[in-house]
Amino acid sequence: MIEILLVKIYIYFLERSEIMKKNNNCDFNINNVGEEVELYGWAAKVRNLGGLIFIDLRDRSGIIQLNINPDSLCYEVAEKIRSEYVLKVNGIISERTSKNPNLKTGEIEVIVKNIEILNESITPVFELDKDDVLEDTRLKYRYLDLRRDNLKNNLITRHKITMCVRKFLSNNGFIEVETPILSKSTPEGARDYLVPSRVNKGSFYALPQSPQIYKQLLMIGGIEKYFQIARCFRDEDLRADRQPEFTQIDMEMSFVKEEDVMNLTEKLFQKIFKEIKGIDIKLPLMRMKYDDAMKKYGSDKPDLRFGMEINDIHDIFQKTDFKVFENAIQDKGTISCIKVENKADYFSRKKIDELTEFVKTYNAKGLPYVKYENNEFTSGISKFLKDDEKKSLIEDLKLNNNDILFFAADKEDIVYSSLGALRLKLGKELDLINKGDYKLLWITDFPSFEWSEEENRFVSCHHPFTAPKDSDIDKLLTDKKHCYSKAYDIVCNGYEAGGGSIRIHKADVQEKMFEALELTKEEIDEKFGFFVNAFKYGTPPHGGLAIGLERLTMLLCETDNIKDVIAFPKTSSASCLMSDAPSIVDKKQLDELKIKRII
Ligand code: AMO
Ligand code: AMP
Repeated sequence: MIEILLVKIYIYFLERSEIMKKNNNCDFNINNVGEEVELYGWAAKVRNLGGLIFIDLRDRSGIIQLNINPDSLCYEVAEKIRSEYVLKVNGIISERTSKNPNLKTGEIEVIVKNIEILNESITPVFELDKDDVLEDTRLKYRYLDLRRDNLKNNLITRHKITMCVRKFLSNNGFIEVETPILSKSTPEGARDYLVPSRVNKGSFYALPQSPQIYKQLLMIGGIEKYFQIARCFRDEDLRADRQPEFTQIDMEMSFVKEEDVMNLTEKLFQKIFKEIKGIDIKLPLMRMKYDDAMKKYGSDKPDLRFGMEINDIHDIFQKTDFKVFENAIQDKGTISCIKVENKADYFSRKKIDELTEFVKTYNAKGLPYVKYENNEFTSGISKFLKDDEKKSLIEDLKLNNNDILFFAADKEDIVYSSLGALRLKLGKELDLINKGDYKLLWITDFPSFEWSEEENRFVSCHHPFTAPKDSDIDKLLTDKKHCYSKAYDIVCNGYEAGGGSIRIHKADVQEKMFEALELTKEEIDEKFGFFVNAFKYGTPPHGGLAIGLERLTMLLCETDNIKDVIAFPKTSSASCLMSDAPSIVDKKQLDELKIKRII
């Protein structure tokens, strides 16, 4: 009885409620001609031709043309419609006389029978179909910017990627687990965002820089295969591919070695590239050791879409008279060069001066060069080259006429970073990069430590839980410079798309690592005491990786601005122009938190 009554009540309300039936505008095509439709959307463009009124009706799927003729009963309403008004339309699909091949619905239009203005809009601050709008304006009115095709499509791609990830990892036995946002400081090396606790006065939560500690605790907790589309927060200097809050596809697995994590990750990349781009990625991906990547490309995230590698020519110049090279050899530095093929004539004196200034920003002291023209070395430092050095350069570097060599002679890190940066700059400038091409690879064998000038000590290259190579455990305290780790990064087109490692799972090795990082017992207890304690309860061998979701989406959307793949991004000063966050808060709120404003 009761059930029947409930159903009747439900039907009563259903019949009286305003249900917004909606088809996607772009679901229709020439095969639907003659059908009556009900459409909703925004007036993207209104053209009143004196008699006929044409309106481009836009919804998420795209645009369809409305045709309102003067005899129509709704003509008066249509005359009032302006840009970005919200409309409900009833009409008949018909074939257009003048077709628009650039539009999905370009062969049809809707002959409007009835049109209703659901809402008006004030005049938008910028025209949505114009490209020359300042980024700040777009960010302030982000909700308008989101109505534009490119942003909307990027968000759709991002959604497709996360759907693909969830399906793939779930099918491979992973479960999605959420970890706290109000958490404790994590060890990724950036500054933390802190949140004051009202209940525990004077104490702060840290927003997670990554779920690193939690995912390892999940392995100790026996979850075995975990993943999460995780929000991460890092207070660091922002760049075109960095935001203060971003998202990782975060994974961790128990009982695995490097190969297992890398194999699974590259299969995931293969799946995503196929689903989103229809591109077949050949597996296994190329692997390159960190040291080799630095020597050959001056970067641990080399862009392999073009050649122009760095050549080690140190051996050729052992007996050089050229002071710059001689000094580099004496100071135990190195000499390398890049060859730009068939472009010597492109490099004017002025251009080379500009490039010299550029490499100086990487601490190079100059940019020696030679051109090879008419079978001889000309200009630059050619007068300093001996015959046997010339011969070796021609043979080893397979020189052809109109090639130019740019040299660097200095400490290794300066040589590699300056030539690496020059290589990238010239690759872009000379249009050597094939757009739409994807070159993926793994970088492996990272050093465990890097020297920090700021802290005057060795710090972790990755994070302090990264396992050293088994053969290097004994060197942790005695030879930090030559300790290598079980870390790996997946790199695509010059971006670090993801990174991870096999973790330390033995308490004694972890202790040794902390000692190597010169952490005191008090620091360890305060920072990771709970974590170190958990290690005593049967920690399985484990490892994982995190993919930067925005980086991956940027690559697949072919943009180099991370803001293009985030619905509500921050500016380079970490603020939101739309909401004005961060902002000053009430004195009352501060009082509750026992925080005193001193500025
Ligand atoms: P890592 O710090 O290398 O590793 O981060 C993993 C990936 O996250 C992306 N990423 C960012 N994307 C946008 N804005 C940022 N500020 C930003 N910082 C990092 C990059 C990077 O490759 N816990 C470890 C992973 C692990 O060991 O499993 C970690 O966070 O694409
Ligand atoms: P010079 O003989 O001083 O004209 O130098 C010849 C070339 O070497 C120029 O192209 C300079 O840019 C470059 N050069 C000069 N000094 C240095 C240096 N200390 N390190 C690297 N390159 C240098």
